[in-house]
Amino acid sequence: MLFKTPWPMETEKAQLELKARTVGKIVGKLGLLASGLGESDLSAGPEFAASLAKEANFYWLSANVLDKNGKKPFHSHMLVDVGGVRVGLFGITSTLTGSAPGQQGLAQSEPIAVAREEIAFLRPKCEVLVCLSHMGLAADQELARQTAGIDVIVGGHSREMTTEPIVAGSTLVVQAFSQGKYVGRLDLDMPRVPGVPPTWHFVRSGQAPPADPKLSRFTAAFVALDKKMGEDAAIVADIKSYNEAVAKLVVSAKPPAGAPPVPGSTTPTQQPLGPPPPAGTFTYWGVPLCASCHVEQSKFWEGTVHARAIDILKKKNRVNDQECIGCHTTGFREPGGFDIPARMAGFENVQCEACHGPGLDHGKGSMAKRGSAEATCRRCHDKSNSPDFDYAAMLPIMSCPKMQRAPK
Ligand code: HEC
Ligand code: HEC
Ligand code: HEC
Ligand code: HEC
Repeated sequence: MLFKTPWPMETEKAQLELKARTVGKIVGKLGLLASGLGESDLSAGPEFAASLAKEANFYWLSANVLDKNGKKPFHSHMLVDVGGVRVGLFGITSTLTGSAPGQQGLAQSEPIAVAREEIAFLRPKCEVLVCLSHMGLAADQELARQTAGIDVIVGGHSREMTTEPIVAGSTLVVQAFSQGKYVGRLDLDMPRVPGVPPTWHFVRSGQAPPADPKLSRFTAAFVALDKKMGEDAAIVADIKSYNEAVAKLVVSAKPPAGAPPVPGSTTPTQQPLGPPPPAGTFTYWGVPLCASCHVEQSKFWEGTVHARAIDILKKKNRVNDQECIGCHTTGFREPGGFDIPARMAGFENVQCEACHGPGLDHGKGSMAKRGSAEATCRRCHDKSNSPDFDYAAMLPIMSCPKMQRAPK
């Protein structure tokens, strides 16, 4: 819920922590009661996650995360009274890698065994038992198979969407999907017969419920939190103050020793980019150099919106936002590109090399092909930022003129 990865880069940590605090504040205002703890909630350490939940007045639940003394740093479970019904909740967390900076010193116990202990403790005390799992859909179904007594598993982690709840024996399995894009609503109608596991019946919308009073019924709905939902003034204000704080954020990071020109930081998310280029290598050449030979193509490019893609961020005071600049510039977080907003100079806009690849590859004969590849466009024209993008229709609009080749 809080972070997009357990390994934030050094250069993005400050912004992502601001964002996590904003998310915490907002879910508190939405009335969140409890959340299953996931590995990406620990990116700034367990104390950060705990203090944020305390401020926002919700609980992290995790019965299988242990600190270095073998104690549980978060609540395992809680019992709440919802309109006269006793509901038990417990949390199970996915496998921690231990190598992520926020997970140092944490250990884990085996999830199925822990779940069985929680069920044994909670089942006699509640009428409905819910597991908040952060293990992924496949593991959630396995958990349902290997235990008895959980009524509902609400899962996260694998970012899958279950448009319909999965009935796994006497347990319903649903998923929270990702990034608060949906609200799921599950209505349960269960006969009060203690000790008898429910036999579930899905009442789809428009259908009549079954006549048999011994059956447990459920209805399910997914509500997209998109633009149609409208805005909430208090939450808009929180987002505005987050954006203002990001605009003022000063990110300064030394380029790592012996790694010219700017290969970024050395956190695991960046390592797969490969070894830094040798000193003195110019990976990115920039428009002026490309234009010095490709005059016609440069004139064409000057006339496209790509040549001004940074202006819209400037106008909105978002040039300092690391979650925006990647697609409105060239070479962000690429070897030889730039790593922090303060080093953006020369990399503004969607330049030649954003499509054709860095000048370093010039002369290999690959640049025209890369420029027109669908994957090149889709890296920026993705589902969330360019939902109506039609590659076949858009490609001709952005194709530079062919070179005039001397006859052989
Ligand atoms: C994954 C790449 C990507 C990221 C990240 C991205 N943008 Fe964009 N942005 C685009 C693309 C592509 C377009 C052109 C979309 C179109 O017209 O279909 C665009 C267009 C825009 C526009 C003009 C069109 C409009 O919707 O009004 C604005 C403003 C904008 N982006 C702001 C932002 C801000 C603010 C952020 C950070 C929160 C951001 N962008 C992050 C790729 C991105
Ligand atoms: C939006 C992506 C994009 C940008 C930005 C872009 N190009 Fe292109 N470019 C293309 C596409 C697509 C083609 C057509 C490729 C084809 O027909 O195979 C092309 C064609 C070319 C060609 C002709 C290749 C040939 O085989 O004749 C050259 C040269 C070229 N671009 C140079 C540049 C230069 C220089 C810039 C920057 C000033 C630039 N391009 C910016 C996408 C881009
Ligand atoms: C010194 C002049 C010069 C500069 C600078 C230069 N090019 Fe070229 N470029 C050429 C010549 C000459 C060719 C044709 C020979 C060939 O195909 O390699 C060419 C070929 C190309 C092609 C088509 C061949 C292929 O690889 O698909 C593209 C695309 C291209 N250049 C893009 C760029 C971009 C982008 C830049 C800036 C990073 C750039 N060029 C800088 C001279 C230059
Ligand atoms: C590095 C990111 C990036 C890449 C790569 C990229 N674009 Fe864009 N594109 C943008 C952004 C950002 C905008 C919005 C610029 C603005 O409105 O200020 C945009 C705008 C456009 C627009 C005008 C707005 C629209 O959607 O009608 C077209 C057309 C377009 N791009 C086509 C392409 C095509 C085709 C490719 C691949 C050959 C491509 N782009 C590659 C970032 C990118």
